Amino acid sequence: MQNEINRRHFLKTTAAASVALPSLSFAVDDKPALLGGKALHTGGWARWPQWREAWEGDLLKVYRSGKWFRGSDKHVEEFEIAYAKLLGATKCLATASGTTALMVALHVMDVDAGDEVICSPYTFIATYNAILNAKALPVFADTDPATLRMDPATIASRITDRTRAILPVHIYGMPCEMDAINALAKQHKLAVVEDACQAWLAEYHGKKCGTLGDLGAFSFQESKHLPGGEGGTVSGMSEALIDKCNSFHNCGRACGTNKGAGSFTRGNNYRMTQAQAVILLQQLDKLQQDTAVRRANADYLTGELGKIPGIAPSRQPENSRPVWHLYPFSYDAEKFSGLPRDKFMKALAAEGVPNASPYREQYFDGLLDEAINSRGFKRLWGADRLKAYRDSFQELKGNKQACAATVAFPQTVLLADRASLEHIIAAIRRIQAHSAELVKA
Ligand SMILES: Cc1ncc(COP(=O)(O)O)c(C=O)c1O
Repeated sequence: MQNEINRRHFLKTTAAASVALPSLSFAVDDKPALLGGKALHTGGWARWPQWREAWEGDLLKVYRSGKWFRGSDKHVEEFEIAYAKLLGATKCLATASGTTALMVALHVMDVDAGDEVICSPYTFIATYNAILNAKALPVFADTDPATLRMDPATIASRITDRTRAILPVHIYGMPCEMDAINALAKQHKLAVVEDACQAWLAEYHGKKCGTLGDLGAFSFQESKHLPGGEGGTVSGMSEALIDKCNSFHNCGRACGTNKGAGSFTRGNNYRMTQAQAVILLQQLDKLQQDTAVRRANADYLTGELGKIPGIAPSRQPENSRPVWHLYPFSYDAEKFSGLPRDKFMKALAAEGVPNASPYREQYFDGLLDEAINSRGFKRLWGADRLKAYRDSFQELKGNKQACAATVAFPQTVLLADRASLEHIIAAIRRIQAHSAELVKA
C-alpha cells in the first residue's frame, strides 16, 4: 500500500500549474542542480486531475435531483454503453473501483476458495488483494525486465491442478503479450482476467485492452487517465458474463433489476454512483485527446532516451499501442560511473523532473505471509504447498531486476510541450556527463 500511496502522492505533488516555457538555454555541461547548479526545468507540469467549469452544471443537476444511486437514474448505464463503445467491447459493467472490478471478474470466472491464479508480481498491490479476497492464491509468473510485464515463458511451470485463471497486468498502460497468454490459457482451460486498471484505450493487435481475455478490469481512481475520484469497470466480449457481473455487484439481484426475494445469487454491493458516472462521461473525449498527446510525447522520449547509454525504454509487443500511465525506463548505473539509482533519481528531481521507482518486491512485505498464515488459507492448502509457495518468491529474478532498475515519469510529464521534454533529455545527459562527480558528492 505504501508503494501505491507513494505513486499517487507522486502523481499529485508533481502536478504544479503548467507554464509555457521560454526557448531553451540549458547546457548539458553545466553543473547539475544537485551539485548547486541551476535546475533545467522550473516551469512545473500539468495538474491532475483536471477539471472544467463547463462540467459543473451536469454534476449539480445530479445532486439536486436526489437521484444518486445506480438504480435511480440512467447515467451509470449511459457510461457503460459509451465506454464499451470506446473499447469495442460487447458490454461493460461500472463498479465502485478497479479492485472491485477485479473481484467481480474473478468471481464470475469461478475463481473460488482454494484456487490458484497466475498473475504478474510487478503491479499495484490491489491485483494481489483481489485474488486473496477470493481466498485464492496469487501465484507469480516472472517479470521480463525488458518489458516489465509477465513473461509468458514462465507461466506454464506455475500451472497446478488448482490453477483456475491467468491474470496479466497491462502495467503503465503497456499491453501484455496476449496471444501467448491466451494460447496457454486455452491449452490448459484457464480463464483470463486482464488487469487493465492502467490501460484505458491501450491496444494490442488492433484490439483494446480489456477485450482480449474473458473479462477485463479498469480503474478510474483519481490518479488515472480517466479519473472519477474512485470507480471501475468490468469489460468483455460476452454479454452473458457481464450480466453475471451485474448480478454479483448488485447484491446478487437478477441482472439489471432491483428485485430481491426469490432471485438472489451470491453478491455484494460494488455499485458506481450517478455522480461518478457523470464525471466519467464528461471526460471520454478528453481521454482520447490526452492519449494522443501522451503517445506522441512518449514516442519522442523513447527515440531520444534510447540513444543515451544506460537508459533503456521498455520494449513493446509488435503491433501494440501503450497509453503510458507512467513512462518507465531501465537505468543501468554502470553507464553512469556507478551512480546508484536512488541518487540518479534525486539528481533528476533536482533538475525539476519528477520521477519514481514505483514497485518493489512487495511479496516480501508481509501481506502474503499474513494471508498464508491465516486460518482460512491454512485450511485450504497443505503446509508443504504454502512453504513451496513462499520459497518460490526467491525465484522471481526477472522481477527483482525490474524492481531494482526501473525509473518512471508520471503521465503528467507526457502532457507537456516539446521544450519540457527536451529538459528531461538534457537532464539525463547532464547527470551522465557529471556522474563521476555526483557519485562522490
Ligand atoms: C494495476 C492496478 N490494478 C488494480 C488497481 C486497483 O484499482 P482501484 O484503486 O480503482 O481499486 C490499480 C489502481 O491503482 C492498479 O494500478
